[in-house]
Amino acid sequence: MSTVAKSQPTRVDQFFTGTEARHDRWRSLLQRARVWESSITQDKSEAETSRATVAKALSDLAQWEDFYAYPGPRLLGLLKDRISSGDVVGSVRLARSISTAILTHSYRANVGDWDNEEDAVGNLANRLPISAEQKVTHRPYFEVLFVSPARQSMWIDLGTELRKLRRPQDKFVYESVFAGSFEDAVLAVILNGSLQAVVIYDDVPFASMHNSPVLREFLTTYLNASGIDPKTLQQGLTLAQALKLIRPELDMYLLSDREVEKAAGSTAAACVRRIFYQVEEPLELHLSILDGISDRYSTPYFDNLQKYAQRPIGTFHALPIARGKSIFKSNWIRDMGDFYGLNLFLAESSATTGGLDSLLEPTGNIKVAQDYAARAFGADHVFFVTNGTSTSNKMVEQALLAPGDIMLVDRNCHKSHHYGAVLSGALPLYVEAYPLTQYSMYGAVPLRTIKKALLDLKAEGKLDRARMVVLTNCTFDGHIYNVERVMEECLAIKPDLIFLWDEAWFGFARWTPFYRRRTAMGAAEILEKKFQDPAYRAAYAEQAKKLGSDLDASDKRLLETRLIPNPDKVRLRVYQTNSTHKSMSCLRQGSMVLVKDQDYHTVEEQFHEAVFTHASTSPNLQIIASIDVARRQMELEGYELVNRAIQLALDLRHEVNTHPLVSKYFRILGADSLIPTEFRNSGFVDYLMPGTNWASVVKALREDEFALDVTRLTLVCGSAGFDGTQFKGLLAADYDIQLNKTSRNSVLLQTNINNTRSDIAHLMKVLVEISQKIEKRLAQGGKAEQETFTARVKSLTHDVPDLPNFSCFHSSFREDASSRTSEGDMRTAFFGAYREEQCEHVKLSSPEIDKRVKTGPELVSANFVIPYPPGFPIMVPGQVINAETIEFMRKLDVKEIHGYNATLGLKLLKASFVETLKKGSTNGKAKKGKTETKHDLAHA
Ligand SMILES: Cc1ncc(COP(=O)(O)O)c(C=O)c1O
Repeated sequence: MSTVAKSQPTRVDQFFTGTEARHDRWRSLLQRARVWESSITQDKSEAETSRATVAKALSDLAQWEDFYAYPGPRLLGLLKDRISSGDVVGSVRLARSISTAILTHSYRANVGDWDNEEDAVGNLANRLPISAEQKVTHRPYFEVLFVSPARQSMWIDLGTELRKLRRPQDKFVYESVFAGSFEDAVLAVILNGSLQAVVIYDDVPFASMHNSPVLREFLTTYLNASGIDPKTLQQGLTLAQALKLIRPELDMYLLSDREVEKAAGSTAAACVRRIFYQVEEPLELHLSILDGISDRYSTPYFDNLQKYAQRPIGTFHALPIARGKSIFKSNWIRDMGDFYGLNLFLAESSATTGGLDSLLEPTGNIKVAQDYAARAFGADHVFFVTNGTSTSNKMVEQALLAPGDIMLVDRNCHKSHHYGAVLSGALPLYVEAYPLTQYSMYGAVPLRTIKKALLDLKAEGKLDRARMVVLTNCTFDGHIYNVERVMEECLAIKPDLIFLWDEAWFGFARWTPFYRRRTAMGAAEILEKKFQDPAYRAAYAEQAKKLGSDLDASDKRLLETRLIPNPDKVRLRVYQTNSTHKSMSCLRQGSMVLVKDQDYHTVEEQFHEAVFTHASTSPNLQIIASIDVARRQMELEGYELVNRAIQLALDLRHEVNTHPLVSKYFRILGADSLIPTEFRNSGFVDYLMPGTNWASVVKALREDEFALDVTRLTLVCGSAGFDGTQFKGLLAADYDIQLNKTSRNSVLLQTNINNTRSDIAHLMKVLVEISQKIEKRLAQGGKAEQETFTARVKSLTHDVPDLPNFSCFHSSFREDASSRTSEGDMRTAFFGAYREEQCEHVKLSSPEIDKRVKTGPELVSANFVIPYPPGFPIMVPGQVINAETIEFMRKLDVKEIHGYNATLGLKLLKASFVETLKKGSTNGKAKKGKTETKHDLAHA
């Protein structure tokens, strides 16, 4: 499956995960050893050639092995000796043993036995996952990197010393990895996902001991792209900072023989957990390392819930399932108990006593759990939400928007935002994403469109009311914004804009250095630093000279210039919502709101009101606990897991698009198909484009307006004669493969931290099987079958309806119909439809519709109409329905259209009602910024 074992060292997919590549290297070594074994009975020179191949494979992989604790120098040396002495049986046995141990991670449970040859070469039983009883004593395993200028022989001694410090009561166990230079330290941190802590001695040299061009290129690119200047890197603190940029969750320790007290007082030391004066206190260091892991491992809410479940508690509150007696003693529903197990019921309560805390007003372990999540995700505050991001979005919008505020929002966004506008009474100003008509979907909203909307608001004197920008990052289909740039340029026009980044799908992105800078929190952190940088201030002064401090240059010029905000005026107000359940190990509906808002104190009260409005007073305790646990997992293994998900996606992309049969009918769309060239300024084409390497990916992620999240795989199935819904059904019914999003001619596959290489292999096998069936059908069906197939493919891939742009709100729902900006009072329209007498239905096929489109009175939608797919509202309350929308609706061949009942027809607001509003409005009843007056009218 994977391509990593092939001799193409610069393939970008090798860089996403050291782990998968490593498995392949060991598998390949083992394969060669087996070939050697089978050649032994043959010609002597052939056997020697095979032996030499194995020796070469070992020396190739050995350069990477320094970055991992297992198998370590002893076993590697043993293997090398066996190969060079011609011990083929011993070599195969040892290679197999090591390779299996690496694959199954069994060495983690057998720490301490590695130097024991018998164990190292032991049978597979030793390598199987540990049994249930063993699990009781299972201690999580991790690795610690020591970066030291000492001789290699001293490392071995240090490793032995540290092992001696282990105590039975330690909750975790670790092994040491050593690096002798700055470069090697960076490589180790990138490649070895098991590393959790780094101990840095001052004065490590810069250059790697590994003189490998691949490693060097890998590193130089990374350092340059991260803006780290290697020349400034001598001191341990600088190295710690550089490593934190890559993996902020790692604990850093500094060992110095300089004035440690001074170092500890410097601002740079903020990234270091503890500074020691040399190794004067090895036990202290050992305990500190374990303590650091303990902090991340601790899940205050989950830990307490487990304790709670074990206590004998009498319940006199309203939750019969708590403690499970009504279930386990039941004659009829005991199977429910058997299925879910006792713990689920023991861990249930409707009380907030017993240390369970209250989600609505957390002061105990929920609060601490939220603070830990804030640390992990780089936020100032975090709110756990147990009703999904649909609720998180509405909370944020209700908290921060008041009636009459203007919210710039992608029309193609999740429906919770449209409802957020209705609830808050804010006026949505829809900004359009670029269409991908060919695939019946939208991309993301170009920055130019957003800037233009802001400049128009400015021209209309309404900029002060523009309060929030809401964008989906990444979109369902994987379009990632250049979050930093969007915020920077928008803040240049309106320095106190609030951003809500809906990262429902992108919560995992924090855990890969590739995507982190493109997340709301990652970008906010970058901007926070930038705004304090004197060089930035100088750049702003330059800009002010050219464009005026009030940006009075022409709109054209402002649209074409990369703007930066005034660092003295700018307020950084960033919110992110994420469906923790969509990309992390969290129960369904677990979601978070992340806050990094320097003016949060001004909205805190209303934020709590919004929580009270939307959060259930009976939140599910298991969901809260699972959010807590999901955070623990990401802080400890998110890096490894996310990189694997990315790797699997790259593998799948590669396999589908290059498979001789499958690629005849199916294709996974690359960045070049989903992101127009104008938004890929770096020249990046796609991850799988020959010649694409790590450097180009990092550059694209820094510079391009949009990037593609590789884990979102749009598989075109129209070319195999299936529409998206049909193909989704086929995969589910015949192959037990589930997915959710479809378009007219594609389905969306996703990889996440749950996927394995076996899943990818299974999917490939299915695609091969389906392709074979098509081939057979076409071969056996004769001309008629072929013509039908071609026509079907053409219809699905070429005869695609244009995606209708948002027309406009009816003038009754606009303060000034002649305004350049199109925001509208959707809330009044929405509630207008609550009175039956104010609405009418017209059948989609009726000639009356065409007549009214031409000659009026205008058709005004009474509600949201959202077809699945594509899943965005093609009508919103108060919107004028135009010819394109009608045409699109008529061509739609999907069954599920929310807000539309085919038997009744389109639900419209009656013209007579809409006119009343207008009159009311011209009578001065609806004043600028006071749209709630209209709302009163709607109920008149
Ligand atoms: C962009 C976006 N935001 C929010 C949501 C809602 O998330 P949840 O399902 O957690 O309520 C979704 C759901 O698919 C979504 O796609």
